[in-house]
Amino acid sequence: MPLACRLFAFGEKPPAVRVESILSTAPAPGEVVLRMLAAPINPADLNVIDGTYGELPPLPATIGNEGAGEILALGPGVENLRIGQIALPLAFGTWTSELILPAKNAIPLPDDIDIHQASMLTVNPATAWRLLHDFASLQPGDWIAQNAANSGVGRAVIQLARHLGFRTLNVVRRPELLDELRALGGDVVVTEEVDLRREARALCGGMLPKLGLNSVGGSSALNIANALAAGSPHVTIGAMARQPLKIPNGLLIFQNLAFRGFWLRRWKENAPAAEIQSTYATLADLLHRGILHTPLQQILPLSEAPAALTAAMQDKRTGKILLDLQA
Ligand SMILES: NC(=O)c1ccc[n+]([C@@H]2O[C@H](COP(=O)([O-])OP(=O)(O)OC[C@H]3O[C@@H](n4cnc5c(N)ncnc54)[C@H](OP(=O)(O)O)[C@@H]3O)[C@@H](O)[C@H]2O)c1
Repeated sequence: MPLACRLFAFGEKPPAVRVESILSTAPAPGEVVLRMLAAPINPADLNVIDGTYGELPPLPATIGNEGAGEILALGPGVENLRIGQIALPLAFGTWTSELILPAKNAIPLPDDIDIHQASMLTVNPATAWRLLHDFASLQPGDWIAQNAANSGVGRAVIQLARHLGFRTLNVVRRPELLDELRALGGDVVVTEEVDLRREARALCGGMLPKLGLNSVGGSSALNIANALAAGSPHVTIGAMARQPLKIPNGLLIFQNLAFRGFWLRRWKENAPAAEIQSTYATLADLLHRGILHTPLQQILPLSEAPAALTAAMQDKRTGKILLDLQA
């Protein structure tokens, strides 16, 4: 029988999750079944468990927002996919050994792709890719400023920006990460203590960043805003410090900054199918070529999902916590 990690109540400590057997169902016309292989635990999953996420599923629910698997069965009429093919589900409820979904939401990948890396492709690299494309007309040589630069999104921004010819001014909270992120391709990497209002221009060789990315909130978000060229977008995607943004009037009046937000779920709902397809095809190719890589801290079996959640909630990890969905 397939297994799934199910959530029974929001906001409990420890989380009200249990791994239990689920029924195996045959795919209906236009559906596929994935034998799920791996899925990461992302901050959004922890927010769903907390009950603080933007949209919450009816309970009990199988949780998980991304992952990778191989096609186990094709429903009638599905012709563009084949059994055994590696695919990424664009679906909720991925922490399961078997997942049924519309074939149009299964993104096929090359058979020799790294499954663990692929399981982390649909959320953070896609977010980074859209952030680099949808908010500013960046030209090669332009600068982007971001906080939480060591996060999955932050690292994807560094790798993709370098690939696209943009430069990054990166802020981290831990000095021990400075050299590692420079080696990853971060053009400038500094800690939160550096006052970007005073230092950004010198750090960026006389230029100012034309796009600001905020995953933290509070004073860190303001520091990023203070680094930006007049008229630039400042895009919030996360709130790791759980502090609101306090925006000085001058950043609006004199700097005309545009404070925006981005949510990948809305993009997936609203973007044209061709844009979604080309985003994931491009990212899969970059992953396959080794241009995108996300560090892993630990892989735990699905049966140990509660322990994996505890590990994912720890501060200052060395990488993602992954669930092995067939172990
Ligand atoms: N809006 C969207 O569509 C979207 C999509 C993807 C991700 N996100 C958001 O983006 C953020 C990053 O996600 P992820 O999966 O990339 O994260 P991740 O890999 O799990 O890393 C979390 C990062 O947050 C940093 N951090 C945690 N608490 C912090 C604090 N109090 N102050 C400053 N930094 C702090 C950590 O710093 P250390 O490295 O020092 O531990 C780490 O770099 C999350 O808020 C997530 O929800 C949003």
